[in-house]
Amino acid sequence: MPHVEILFRNALIFDGSGKKPIKGNVGVSDDRITFVQPNKKKNQVSSEMEFDLEGLALAPGFIDAHTHDDYAVFDTHKIYPKLTQGVTTIVAGNCGISLPPLDLNGTIPVPPMNLLGDSGIYRFPSMKSYRDALVKNHHAVNMVYLIGHSALRIKVMKDINRVATSDETIMMHNLLAQALDEGASGLSTGLFYPPNKAANENEVIGVASAMRNKRGIYTTHMRDEGDDVLKSIEESVSTASKAGVPLLISHHKCTGQQNWGKTRETLKVLEGNSNAPPLNFDVYPYTAGSTVLHEDQVSEETRIMVTWSQSHPERTGQELSKIAEEWGVSCKEAAVRLKPAGAIYFQMHEEDVRRLLKSDIAIIGSDGIPEDEHPHPRLWGTFPRIIGHYARDLGLLSMTEAIHKMTGLPAQVFGLRWRGKIAPNYFADLVIFDPDLIIDKADYQNPKLPSEGINSVWVNGRETLKAEKIVNADAGYFLKADFAG
Ligand code: ZN
Ligand code: CU
Repeated sequence: MPHVEILFRNALIFDGSGKKPIKGNVGVSDDRITFVQPNKKKNQVSSEMEFDLEGLALAPGFIDAHTHDDYAVFDTHKIYPKLTQGVTTIVAGNCGISLPPLDLNGTIPVPPMNLLGDSGIYRFPSMKSYRDALVKNHHAVNMVYLIGHSALRIKVMKDINRVATSDETIMMHNLLAQALDEGASGLSTGLFYPPNKAANENEVIGVASAMRNKRGIYTTHMRDEGDDVLKSIEESVSTASKAGVPLLISHHKCTGQQNWGKTRETLKVLEGNSNAPPLNFDVYPYTAGSTVLHEDQVSEETRIMVTWSQSHPERTGQELSKIAEEWGVSCKEAAVRLKPAGAIYFQMHEEDVRRLLKSDIAIIGSDGIPEDEHPHPRLWGTFPRIIGHYARDLGLLSMTEAIHKMTGLPAQVFGLRWRGKIAPNYFADLVIFDPDLIIDKADYQNPKLPSEGINSVWVNGRETLKAEKIVNADAGYFLKADFAG
């Protein structure tokens, strides 16, 4: 009689591959899944621990393809919003912003580098030093890391307001190559943001080419997500193909009323790009974005909410227009006075969000900002919102498809071998949830509410979240993209 450590019985199994769920049993020993058995086969199995999951669903743990949890991951409580959504793997180092390879000697980083936290956090001069510190500290979820182009620029350039010289580009290329050797999985750019803006396509190609020959993935917060979104997509595709690397467009959206509906055109380009290298985008299920507050992004027609403010902390959670009215100034002037600060921008259209969520090349990334006082609700709600609200309640896509975009597909996009699927030999990253109850609770007014319907979360075969409580804080592994096989 076969023996396993843990046996899950009678579960509705979504295996992550995009195939319809089956009713059955799953066995786990050590950190791996050992067998999957449909209920109609009645083989005897012995186990040390058994869970009857009648009425519940079992899926691979969700992969949050876009996070800013670089520093938060050191503190398990800051990862709680992710665990309560069923997330077992996070990708950090996005939007050009990464901790390594920067040592800022305790100084406060320039925006948007300060999204990750305050002074003192940029103290990892290499990927190796960051990885070692994290492994030593232990972490609750699996970690995939990208190196930010802005971090590289701040490291090697005296003046980041110009394009890099060829020497500087070579230095960044070599730093990225070294980071890849030390565990990084790719490069991210944030060409929209000041520290990265002055880089032209050639500079990015020069740096990204360190990932040629299947060494990493290129992710980009594009130069423009509004009027010039199509031009930015063209630039991103051209950069990736010239560098010879797979491309992931970050938090794809079309911002500004005049651009609503444009996802029809962007999807035509993105989905039609069948030539290698591979192309995907990540998306979150909300019509508002969130980043640092900047007066250039303030316009009268966009509703804006303050997520934190260093100069006026008492204004956190308030609407910018209301603050401006009280102060008797313009919204732009109010933004200047609130800085340094963060904000939620209500700038997308629901139809565009839905069109993107349905795309076959879409994967799910929360883009949550864990350090914000009054964060965008995507930090707490993204995954259950897609499964509960968009799949079950609205029928926009099937639960099977939704789960595939959070598991099997992102595992493939990031070259995460033996992850994202419920099958023999795969790592036992698992989430157990009630398909009738799963739903997000966080909203713009009350953004820090855990989702409902998540029963338990397992990371590498260890129960990590149980009845909304963290029961293990150290089951996560540091993962590295492997595109070779
Ligand atoms: Zn971004
Ligand atoms: Cu981001």
